[in-house]
Amino acid sequence: MTRSTSRPVLIAPSLLAADFTRLAEEVAAIESAGADWLHLDIMDGHFVPNISFGPAIVKALRPLTRMPFDVHLMIAPADPYLAAFAEAGADLISLHPEAGPHLHRSLQTIRGLGKKTGVVLNPGTPVESIAHVLDLVDLILVMTVNPGFGGQSFLESQLPKMATLRRMIDESGRDIRLQIDGGVTARTAPLCLEAGADVLVAGTAVFGAPDRAAAIRAIRGGQGA
Ligand code: DX5
Ligand code: ZN
Repeated sequence: MTRSTSRPVLIAPSLLAADFTRLAEEVAAIESAGADWLHLDIMDGHFVPNISFGPAIVKALRPLTRMPFDVHLMIAPADPYLAAFAEAGADLISLHPEAGPHLHRSLQTIRGLGKKTGVVLNPGTPVESIAHVLDLVDLILVMTVNPGFGGQSFLESQLPKMATLRRMIDESGRDIRLQIDGGVTARTAPLCLEAGADVLVAGTAVFGAPDRAAAIRAIRGGQGA
C-alpha cells in the first residue's frame, strides 16, 4: 500500500461502544490490547441527537490508564466546557466549527489550557472551513458518519476530503494528525490509510470484537501488526 505519510498509524478506540457497566475493565482491556489513544465522545442531545457522558466520567477514568485522552466534543456551545474537560484530564480536545461563532478563539482557548487541539469536519462540512486556522490545529478529524451514534456505515464519499486534507497538511509543513471517525473497520481502514489518514477511531469494530487485540491489529493493517 502506498501512503503519503510515513507516520505510525494510531488506533483510538471509542469508549461509546464499551460496556458502560464495566468502564474500568473495558479501558484496561483495550490498553493491553494495543490501543494508542482513548477516544471519548461527548454528546449533548442538542448539537447531536444523542447524549453520552461528561467530564465526571473523563475524570474518573483518567487515573486508570496511561493512554492519551482524545476528547471529541459534540456539544454546542463548547466554549463554556473547555476548561472542565481540560481539568478532567483531556490531552486533546476536538470541536466542530459549527459548535460556536469563533472557531479561532475556541482553539486559542484550548491551547491556552495547555491541551492539543482538534477540528472536526462533518460529512457536509467543507475543508475550507478550517483552512485559516491550521496554525492552531494539532489534529483534523474527518467524520465518516453523521455524528451522534456508533455502529453506522462508513461514508466512502468522504475519501476525497481526506486526500485533500492530507495534501493541505503536507503543503503546510505543520505537525498535524489526520484522524477518521465513524464506521472504521478492518475493511474501511485501508481506504482511510490510502487517503492519508494516520489516526483511526473505532468503536464497534474494537469493543464489539471478541478479540480486541486482533481487531486493533486488523484495523492498523501492516503497521505494527
Ligand atoms: C460518532 C462518534 C464516533 C463513534 C464511532 O458520533 O464520534 O466516535 O463512537 O463508532 P463506530 O466506530 O462504531 O462507528
Ligand atoms: Zn468521535
